[in-house]
Amino acid sequence: MRTAMSLIVTAAVVCAITAAIVFAAIWGVRAIGARMERASGGANAEADASENPPRGEEATETEAGAPPSEHAHFLDLYYCEEDRLERYLDYEAAHPELSPEEVVWRVDVDIDKPFYENAVELELECARSEQALVSKRFKLPDDFEPAELAQIDGDYRVTPATKEAYERLREGAKAAGHSIRAASAYRTIEYQKNLYARYLNEDPNNADNYSARPGFSEHHTGRAIDLVGPSGTLRGFVGTKEAEWVRENAWNYGFIVRYTPENEEITGYESEPWHITYIGREAAALMRENGIGSLEEYVAKYVLHLPPQ
Ligand code: DAL
Ligand code: ZN
Repeated sequence: MRTAMSLIVTAAVVCAITAAIVFAAIWGVRAIGARMERASGGANAEADASENPPRGEEATETEAGAPPSEHAHFLDLYYCEEDRLERYLDYEAAHPELSPEEVVWRVDVDIDKPFYENAVELELECARSEQALVSKRFKLPDDFEPAELAQIDGDYRVTPATKEAYERLREGAKAAGHSIRAASAYRTIEYQKNLYARYLNEDPNNADNYSARPGFSEHHTGRAIDLVGPSGTLRGFVGTKEAEWVRENAWNYGFIVRYTPENEEITGYESEPWHITYIGREAAALMRENGIGSLEEYVAKYVLHLPPQ
């Protein structure tokens, strides 16, 4: 691309289901609440039955004579959305190298759609949530502002939860012998407008590979921080022991390195080892434990849909 480019343990099941419903409503993107409930065997399964028979009933029909679906490799995945079947098939045809799992979660978060085309606008409450997906396909409302901001490292601002986690991360780095500090954090949409315009003017062919367009930057959320080490520059952070420490330890403080060499194709950005995003420790730990390499994949599998218990 360089050129083109919670799960929650048993005691928290009820909270997880509630959170899923809230997320579905908040995202305001699609009616997935019923599907999430069905996937997790939730309380609304009965109400949903009139329109969408639960999996068990589908199975009975199949036993009674209908052949098993030729799309079972998609439909059996808990994060499959039946109304996206055509899109899964198209994406699978275009990417025969991908497994059905990869096809489905990618299409669930619109990775089959071109960057910036008909981007989904997040509802305010969702945009302010800890695991909001802000990308080239999911944008913030034009008047978006975080609910609250707090200062870090002098003049930089982040959400209060991000500040607390960041200060612990910086202390953890220090204890391991590394000096890191913020070089950018919350940015207004107006600020990003000027920044992007400047990059576009200087480097029209590549600006989109490293700069978000206004309204599409995680920096608007107050949960993203760009880090520097002793060099004091972003580029000077690449390949350093500080960057290595952050890559290995950020999850423990609830952060992810959002743009990695491995997920460039998913995010549409070149790797940025300095850009960390606060998503909460539980989510960050789950991503690490399950080898989930992008926030996109996490959101498809654990926010928009919940794994069956
Ligand atoms: N550099 C990142 C992608 C941003 O502009 O938000
Ligand atoms: Zn950044």
